Formats: sequence, structure tokens, C-alpha cells
Amino acid sequence: MTFIDVIAASVWLMLPAYVANPMAAVFGGGMPMDLGRNFRDGRRILGDGKTFRGLIAGTVCGLVTGIVQIGVAPLIAGSGVLAGWPFFRSALDAYSSGTVLVVGLMALGALLGDSAESFIKRRLDLKRGAMFPVADQLDFVLGAWVLTFIFASVWFKTYFTFWILVTVLVVTPLLHLMTNVFGFLIKVKKEPW
Ligand code: CTP
Ligand code: MG
Repeated sequence: MTFIDVIAASVWLMLPAYVANPMAAVFGGGMPMDLGRNFRDGRRILGDGKTFRGLIAGTVCGLVTGIVQIGVAPLIAGSGVLAGWPFFRSALDAYSSGTVLVVGLMALGALLGDSAESFIKRRLDLKRGAMFPVADQLDFVLGAWVLTFIFASVWFKTYFTFWILVTVLVVTPLLHLMTNVFGFLIKVKKEPW
């Protein structure tokens, strides 16, 4: 029970970031964020896979998800169905006490982390879409954590406890792989990773 409880709490806490990342792939396209320019090593700064539309649409989708969580958290908590779920119960507080700012930081942070990874990939001369194991699965998690740690540190430290952090690091790559294989099958993504 505790096992499922911690996983449910982790997914709930990460949901704005989990939604932001794939929605960038669904709605992305158009003008790249680096405006097509190269870095001083002669390679693209970020590449054509990081677009303004993806950044904005992904952030908005994550934000909307979080706002819905802020709205429903008190209802779920008040219903008493989570009596035997201490981790999930406390994760609910994160978004009922959390603000729209915190949710926005999670969503935007996810996409900035994803862009930071692309920057590193281009420096390593990895082409757009090339596989970069571990980083491909955790870039957006680190981005969401770094941004909330900087701008909402009390909130981050209160809710992202040690076991939540560990669980997110283990569960995210699995969820990410499942989402991307699905995205590949429905032709939203060009590669299944
Ligand atoms: N996407 C976007 N804008 C973003 C992030 C993603 O438009 N800020 C879209 C792009 O169409 C991208 C797709 O989502 O191709 C998948 O995202 P991702 O796997 O992160 O990009 P890659 O194409 O693999 O590029 P990179 O090698 O830079 O990671
Ligand atoms: Mg990719």
C-alpha cells in the first residue's frame, strides 16, 4: 500500500511537468527558440526541435493542469477517501496550498530543462532527435525542480521529501518511455524515446 501511495504522491506532485513536456511535442513547431542561429562552435544553439510554440503551449497545458489540481485537491482531501494514504494526502496539500506561481514554475521549468538538455546535446554534436539516455528521461524533471527550488524553495523542500525525490527519479523514466512509445505510435513523435 505504501508503495502505491508514494508513487501516486510523486505523480500528483510532478503532473504539471509531466503534462508540459509531451504537450510541447503535440503543439510544437514553427520558429525555433534559437531563431536558427549557431553557437560559437558552429553548431545550432538548441536546434529545430525547440520552438516558441512548444515552449508556450507546453507551459500553458502544464499550468492549466496544475490549476485544476489546485481546484480539486481540497475536494479529494475533504472526501476522506485517502485515510490510508498519508503520502498522497500530504501531496494534495502541495497544490491546495500551492499557488498558480508554483504550478507555472513546474511547467516552465520542465521545458527549460528540456531545452538545456538540447543545448548540451548540440555541444556534443548530437543531432536533433538523437538518443541521449538518462538525460532524455530526466531533463524536464531537473528543470522543474531547479526552478521551484530557486523561486519557491520552502514549497519545494516541504513537499519534495527524500522518498518522493527517489520515487520520481525511478518512476519518471518508465512513464517517459511509455508516453514516448505511445507518441511515436500516434505519430506525434519521430522517435520512440
Ligand atoms: N518541441 C517543441 N518545442 C519545445 C520542445 C519540444 O516544438 N520547446 C517539439 C519538437 O517538435 C520536438 C518534439 O517536440 O521535435 C519532441 O521533443 P524532444 O524529444 O525534446 O526534441 P527532439 O526533436 O528530440 O530534439 P533534441 O535532440 O533537441 O532533444
Ligand atoms: Mg528527443
